[in-house]
Amino acid sequence: MTKLLITRRIAEPVLAQAEKLFDCTVRDQGGLSVEEAADALRHYDAILPTLGDEFTAEAFELAGEPRCKILGNFGVGYNHIDTDAAAKVGVAVTNTPDVLTDATADIGMTLLLSTARRAGEGERMVRAGQWEGFGPKVGLSTHVTGKTVGIVGMGRIGQAVARKCHYGFDMDVIYFNRSAKEVGHPAKRMDTLAELMGAADFVVVTVPGGAETRKLIDADALAAMKPEGIFVNISRGEVVDEAALIDVLKRGAITGAGLDVYENEPHVPADLIALENCVLLPHLGSATTETRQAMGQMALDNIIAWSEGREPPQKVN
Ligand code: DGY
Repeated sequence: MTKLLITRRIAEPVLAQAEKLFDCTVRDQGGLSVEEAADALRHYDAILPTLGDEFTAEAFELAGEPRCKILGNFGVGYNHIDTDAAAKVGVAVTNTPDVLTDATADIGMTLLLSTARRAGEGERMVRAGQWEGFGPKVGLSTHVTGKTVGIVGMGRIGQAVARKCHYGFDMDVIYFNRSAKEVGHPAKRMDTLAELMGAADFVVVTVPGGAETRKLIDADALAAMKPEGIFVNISRGEVVDEAALIDVLKRGAITGAGLDVYENEPHVPADLIALENCVLLPHLGSATTETRQAMGQMALDNIIAWSEGREPPQKVN
């Protein structure tokens, strides 16, 4: 019987199906280190991993000729898997696009709105018993409706954010994407990242992680933002130079930041935590019950396709 390792506990109906079809082990003890990932590649036919499991080039090298033939990743982002190294030793990698687009874009909207309207600060004030009642100047913040949002990366999630901003909040939408692909209404493409950073009231980063986008948002990009600007990241922490972001926030060179992702998760720098003008979430982008079940199902369906000799529908390498 095919030996399947599921590295975390996923939705029960999906686990039940996996257990019926495969000789299934559920690990659920945090992320796999490089050595543990190599060990898993040597001992299982198929693995259903997620972010935090380190399937790096080194893991594939340590594994030699792996027993494993497919990594059915739970997540659309797969920057924790070296897909080229996997392909070289015959390991297919799949991901879970589409099913998490709206949930992730909704977290982008949550961060945009809560950072702009200083909801985090307000909530902390109420909970600390420091609210002295309504006042014309209490909690003054930035208006959202009708402003300009600048989206970095215009894939599925970027386009969903664009629609929500335009149709829900009457915003002008501009974007920058490295592919230079035009997506048309309701968004206008900017020729350079600097142009986008300088023109937007709200910048929302939605590019995939990985080597090509590492530190795409560097000190220069952040310096181009308006002082009233608000920065939101729902992609991967590694896309942003975190030290440079903390610097502009500390100096008040931008107004605030809403972050769902960090450079070294789950570590969040103390300097960031100390800043009042940030809303900090624990990588919740796809975390709705419905979405997480759909992601689990898609990851498992790819493994089932492989086990039946079919091409896994969401193969990325
Ligand atoms: C994704 O699907 O990429 C989420 O960020 C979880 O990894």
